[in-house]
Amino acid sequence: MKQKMQAIQANGYPIVFGENGYEFLNTFIEDNKYSNIFILSDTHSNECCLSRFLPFLATDKTIEIIEIESGEIEKNITTCVEIWSILTELGGDRKSVLINIGGGVITDIGGFVASTFKRGIDFIHIPTTLLAMVDASVGGKNGVDLGTLKNQIGVINVPKLVLVDTEYLATLPRNEMRSGLAEMLKHGLIFDANYWAEFRTLESADFADFDTLIYRSIEIKNEIVMQDPTENGIRKALNFGHTLGHAIESYFLENENKKTLLHGEAIAVGMILECYISWQKKLISAAEYIEIKQTINAIFTTIVFEENDLSPIMNLLIHDKKNEYGKIQFALLDGIGNSKINQEVENELIVKSFADYKS
Ligand SMILES: NC(=O)c1ccc[n+]([C@@H]2O[C@H](COP(=O)([O-])OP(=O)(O)OC[C@H]3O[C@@H](n4cnc5c(N)ncnc54)[C@H](O)[C@@H]3O)[C@@H](O)[C@H]2O)c1
Repeated sequence: MKQKMQAIQANGYPIVFGENGYEFLNTFIEDNKYSNIFILSDTHSNECCLSRFLPFLATDKTIEIIEIESGEIEKNITTCVEIWSILTELGGDRKSVLINIGGGVITDIGGFVASTFKRGIDFIHIPTTLLAMVDASVGGKNGVDLGTLKNQIGVINVPKLVLVDTEYLATLPRNEMRSGLAEMLKHGLIFDANYWAEFRTLESADFADFDTLIYRSIEIKNEIVMQDPTENGIRKALNFGHTLGHAIESYFLENENKKTLLHGEAIAVGMILECYISWQKKLISAAEYIEIKQTINAIFTTIVFEENDLSPIMNLLIHDKKNEYGKIQFALLDGIGNSKINQEVENELIVKSFADYKS
């Protein structure tokens, strides 16, 4: 990272940064006397990131690299079985450590595989996408999709260490950068109005000096998780934009006629829709709604919804993990920089939010 970033203490593990982070990692591995070191990566993180990562790793232990195909479609239980089998064949035992180096797919699936292999081995996250740095690697949620239903199977279990090195972003495609940006915008909207304001003036194409913004985003995510690690209260605010966003993501994933959306692209639409709902419920003003919609639309391409898309998307809402006693619960905005959780929303209002988005 261009600036030296202080390590952040999360709930039970540190988040370390940049080149100093690798020193910390090596000492950590040494101190823990692991039997084997396994590295989980996918096609792109293997190709783009391991050549930077491996020279930093100073250890005399055997290192085994496990590679899976890239993409959300791989985040399923079949891939887990393959990884568990490889770990077994390669002599993985309870003193092994799994280093997950990749985007949110790798940190989610790697965290889950490690949490369940031999009833749990240590794991470390090295996020290599913007989205994984500011969101997926922090907070201990990990798991896989069930068919096209997002994140239905999983556990909350924290890594031993997260190492954020923004040099990995040099090879990340711009649409993937944008995808991560959606979660950063969300952090501002739900928690820090000043942070949100920084994005209003940010040129959509300017990712030049991003480290400070990334650091603040990690701080916000961590602060929320620290207050409520098991998502009984305030952590639900992080689901702002995700109730509709996940349903849209799942629908586009399962529908052959639709282009698969990146996670952040779906969340960007979800945030606009849920801002509309917040406005209609008088939780934000019309001016705030317009400001948010314009800022997000300046960065993300508008998604086209056909008339017959709405009903299947609404049906997918019944699988949302925040639902309690069969009721769909939204996390909405309560002014910019604040949120209101456990909000029930009438179907008509959801329909109206899509109509407004299309207009
Ligand atoms: N656990 C959580 O709290 C949490 C939070 C948010 C999102 N998620 C999950 O994260 C996933 C999305 O993560 P993502 O956006 O990182 O997607 P991803 O992991 O699929 O990565 C996106 C693409 O970038 C490639 N890639 C990774 N690093 C690269 C690099 N440095 N250079 C070039 N290419 C690189 C990957 O191979 C992949 O093709 C979703 O499954 C989502 O559900 C989890």
